[in-house]
Amino acid sequence: MGPDGDKWSETTQETLGGAGATAGSGVPQGAVTLKGRAKFIYIVPDFCNPSGITMTLEERQALVDFARREDLLIVEDSPYRELRYSGADIPTIYSLAPERTLHLGSFSKIFAPGFRLGWIIAEPQLLEQIFVCKQALDLCPPVFDQYLAAEFMGSGALDRNLAKSIDLYRGKRDYMLSLLEKYMPAGVSWTHPDGGLFLWVTLPEGIDTVAMYDSALAAGVAYVAGSFFYLDGSHRNTMRLNFSYLAKERMEAGVRLLASEIRKAASGSQIIDTQSVAKNKSAKNSDLFSGNH
Ligand SMILES: Cc1ncc(COP(=O)(O)O)c(C=O)c1O
Repeated sequence: MGPDGDKWSETTQETLGGAGATAGSGVPQGAVTLKGRAKFIYIVPDFCNPSGITMTLEERQALVDFARREDLLIVEDSPYRELRYSGADIPTIYSLAPERTLHLGSFSKIFAPGFRLGWIIAEPQLLEQIFVCKQALDLCPPVFDQYLAAEFMGSGALDRNLAKSIDLYRGKRDYMLSLLEKYMPAGVSWTHPDGGLFLWVTLPEGIDTVAMYDSALAAGVAYVAGSFFYLDGSHRNTMRLNFSYLAKERMEAGVRLLASEIRKAASGSQIIDTQSVAKNKSAKNSDLFSGNH
C-alpha cells in the first residue's frame, strides 16, 4: 500500500485495483471484491511508517466491514501506537473486530531501539496456531529479552520512560514541522503526524528523489526515497523523513540543506521558484533523516 498524502482512500483503491471503488472513506465499497485472491489485509493504522498518517475511526470501521464481507483476517501492525503526541486515541482495529484481527506491538520503539521483542493480541484460537508456527521456527523469542521486558514493565520504568519519550519526540516533531514551514520552497508539502517517528514529504511532480539522492548525501543530508515504498517504484517525487533521532541543531542544518537540494533539483526544470538558499557551512556530517529504530 502506498503512503500518499494525509488520507488513505487513493492508496487503498490502488492496492485493490478498484478504480472508483472508494467513496472517500479510504476503504473499498460496493462491488469491489478480492475474489479469494487474498488471505489477509496488512495495515499500519497508527502513525504509519512511512507516511505518518493515521486511519480515522470511520476508515477502520469501513475496513472491518470490508474484511467481514470478504471473510479476511486483518493484521494490524502498530509498533508506534504508544507514541502519540497530539489528538485523541482512536480504537484499535482489534477492538472493532477481535474475531478476525491480529494486533501487533513492539518494544523496539518504547524500550530500546533494536530491542526486537513484540507482542500479538488475538483470539485464543488464532494465537494457538501462531504458537505452533513459532515453536517450529525458533521455539520462542529469547527468554532473556522477555525477562528484561517483564522487569521494564513491572518496575514502572516503561510508563516513566514512555512519558519522557513522548515529550522528547513531540518537541522534535513540532520543531521539524516548523523548520519545513520555514525553509521548504513553494510546491513542497508534507504530512502532520500525530505520533510515531516519520513524516512524508511530497515534492512537485518531476523532481526525482532517487536521482537527487547522491547529491543530497554529498551535501550532508539523507532521507529515504518514497518510491522504495511502492511495489511499482512510482511516486518518485516523495520522501520519508525521520524526526525523532537528530538533535535540534543538526535538524535545522539538515532541513536547510534539504530545501537547498530540492531547489537545485528543480532549477533546471523550473518546477519551483529557485531562489538561492545559503548552504549551511557548519553541517559537516550527514544529517540523517533516514533513521529507523
Ligand atoms: C510498521 C512496522 N512494523 C514493524 C516494524 C519492526 O518492528 P520490530 O522493531 O519490533 O522488529 C517496523 C519498524 O521497525 C515498522 O515500521
